[in-house]
Amino acid sequence: MDLHFDRHRRIRNHPVLRDMVRETRVLTSDFMYPLFVTHDEGRHPVLSMPGVDHLSLEELKRETETLSELGVPAMMIFGIPAIKDDLSSEAYAENGIVQQAIQAVKQENSRMFVATDVCLCQYNPAGHCGVVHDDQILNDESLELLAKTALSHVQAGADLVAPSDMMDGRVAAIRTKLDKEGFVQTPIMSYAVKYASAFYGPFREAAHSTPAFGDRRTYQMDPANVREAMREARSDVAEGADILMVKPALAYMDVMRAVKESFDLPLAAYNVSGEYAMVKAAAQQGWIDEQAVVMEMMTGLKRAGAEILISYFAKDVARYLRASGS
Ligand code: PBG
Repeated sequence: MDLHFDRHRRIRNHPVLRDMVRETRVLTSDFMYPLFVTHDEGRHPVLSMPGVDHLSLEELKRETETLSELGVPAMMIFGIPAIKDDLSSEAYAENGIVQQAIQAVKQENSRMFVATDVCLCQYNPAGHCGVVHDDQILNDESLELLAKTALSHVQAGADLVAPSDMMDGRVAAIRTKLDKEGFVQTPIMSYAVKYASAFYGPFREAAHSTPAFGDRRTYQMDPANVREAMREARSDVAEGADILMVKPALAYMDVMRAVKESFDLPLAAYNVSGEYAMVKAAAQQGWIDEQAVVMEMMTGLKRAGAEILISYFAKDVARYLRASGS
């Protein structure tokens, strides 16, 4: 038989060579770990997210140490306020939960990179990401509050702010405010492309931020659209974003690739609560090999173009990588 074909398997036979020709690597240093901070004492599990807890400020310090020991270099802080009001006051209060959390982390370990989620939905009774009036989510009226929130985080010591509200113009509003106050060096990672997704379900339980009426579809994007994602990203680049994010991650890897190819800013992928919960649930049933599935997912996100992985799996991945000696 005189067949002519390529021998793709030649480079897969020896494990050393297989490692050397690997095109994508997941590193602990890729990760930002999201966490939820409350005014309550102690540590309380989020039932739909096994392994994730609500943390008091003291527990947050402990968690900071755990992350440092594991080599996870960055965190993203979400706050659960004591009170919710129509002006979302605790979002930008000097002694708000996030502002206190940032200081607590920095006190514990000044090298920990602290990013914060900038949004209003946890802070107002309507549970929407902007100012609500007559059941409408007002755009322009929200910008000043979002900018104040971002500024208060940076004044408390945040290294980066990440607006997730999806109001138009918020990157411009935040950039202008930060610059005016002298924080010209603080980067903005915009949730540039954020879809109205059912994958946020467990997060809303964790953050107590389920909308009291309606849904988020007048500001978050339709999962069906990718050309619109380009417009969102283009605006955020023009307004001064330093890093673009696509969220959720797994059902939107084509969007990541498209954003990556069209814009030369770094790209972050947010592997959200529902994506985490599904894996944990299947693993608890013994239906999947959790470690293998998690690493395959994270590798896929990097292959799709993400430099930064925001994931509740960050500590798990750090442990896997440590155990494998990489
Ligand atoms: C707040 C916010 C949400 C998430 C991050 N920031 C929820 C939402 O928009 O409803 C989701 C994170 C996750 O699901 O892990 N705007």
